[in-house]
Amino acid sequence: MPLDQYNNLGSLVEPDRVHKACYADEQVFEKELENIFYKSWIYIGHESQVPNAGDYWTTWVGKERMILCRGENGDVNVLYNRCPHRGALICNNLNGNAPKAFRCPYHAWQFNMDGSLRNVPMKQGYEGVIDLTDPQLQMKRAERQETYRGFVFASLSEEGPSLEEWLGQGAKAAFDDICNRSPEGECEVVVNCFRIIQHSNWKIFLENQLDAVHPSITHHSTGDAAADMQRVYKEKTGDEPPMGYQFLADFTLPYEKWDSLDTIGHPYGHTLLAGYMGLRPRDPVTIAHEESLTAVHGEKRMDEILSTNVHHVLVYPCLSVQPPLQQLRAVRPLAANKTLTEIWHFRLKGAPEGIYDRSLAYYYHVNSPSTMVNADDLNNFRACQDGLTLEGGGDWVSFHRNYGQDPVENGITTSVTGMSKQPMRNMFAAWKEYMSA
Ligand code: FES
Ligand SMILES: [Fe+2]
Repeated sequence: MPLDQYNNLGSLVEPDRVHKACYADEQVFEKELENIFYKSWIYIGHESQVPNAGDYWTTWVGKERMILCRGENGDVNVLYNRCPHRGALICNNLNGNAPKAFRCPYHAWQFNMDGSLRNVPMKQGYEGVIDLTDPQLQMKRAERQETYRGFVFASLSEEGPSLEEWLGQGAKAAFDDICNRSPEGECEVVVNCFRIIQHSNWKIFLENQLDAVHPSITHHSTGDAAADMQRVYKEKTGDEPPMGYQFLADFTLPYEKWDSLDTIGHPYGHTLLAGYMGLRPRDPVTIAHEESLTAVHGEKRMDEILSTNVHHVLVYPCLSVQPPLQQLRAVRPLAANKTLTEIWHFRLKGAPEGIYDRSLAYYYHVNSPSTMVNADDLNNFRACQDGLTLEGGGDWVSFHRNYGQDPVENGITTSVTGMSKQPMRNMFAAWKEYMSA
């Protein structure tokens, strides 16, 4: 890439196309960590991952290693996973319980769950030398941490918009839509998650979630096989097949159907694709769910909640959420060409068990590493990354479809068709703003 483009990373993004360096260049990636992942809010985990005092989960914000934990007073904290003594990782497991305190495995300094120093072996060696209440000797907390409806985020920047301001209506909708479907207004995480390392840039994954052109092509064989199985099931049993088959068969919807969906671009790159699946059949499970919500909210509100039809909400740059099926995928960039995704799903508190079975079916059939759907997508991601890494063959990625036809009102961009590249343009507009800051 020419040097002047490193000095002006915004020039890599034009209104209808972006330079391949956005995906393939390690220096651009490092700048993304600095300007995007260390400046915005990043999803850490759900409060229900740490139900008891001493519970912890480790995770990443960019390259930083972080801990989500719960203290004896019930507070949930986000800490850097680093010992202030000699710098060792305090938690070397993915998750666990530290019964009373974190104990560094190297020299046994102990820390409370809020990061404060609890004890040091052989303290006399420090007497008159250092003050053990010095904040420098505590595990460092994330610069900021905030929670929205049980979903915990951290920002490694002291400054910036509050979490709610940053999420805005567009991204809050992801969590509201999950929680509102519970008669208790809350969800809880199902531990553990699947993890996939994708050999591709983190943006390729996010862009694909709102790429309504690809399903009928990429997932054609999977969708056809599922539709065949639906027919066989019906012929053999006379019953309606389980919804899991439909989740897969839907991938073969005709182009016209995909084109009729709305996409909405919100500030900070958060972007939404409307739903296409019929999730309210007249079966006993759906009816029981409706009744449980009606008992709490009345029929009108129940209907509003369950009529909300959203397929994906991208919380840019860190999440892809599918609220009606309680799915959440967290994006952890590792390198320009390597991305870890965590695939979580949630249980709606107080909802019938059959609603959870649907979530689990979608989790296994569509989002898990073993499904053909995911395999199809991963193959495309890798092919894109490999192509974008080539020296020759062209420098630009096209986002031209329906360019110039993105109506904007009060900072919200809508698409004229579901297949528009408006979502990609919206995300890259945010990218450009972050990277030019
Ligand atoms: S490095 Fe943690 S106690 Fe020494
Ligand atoms: Fe796909």
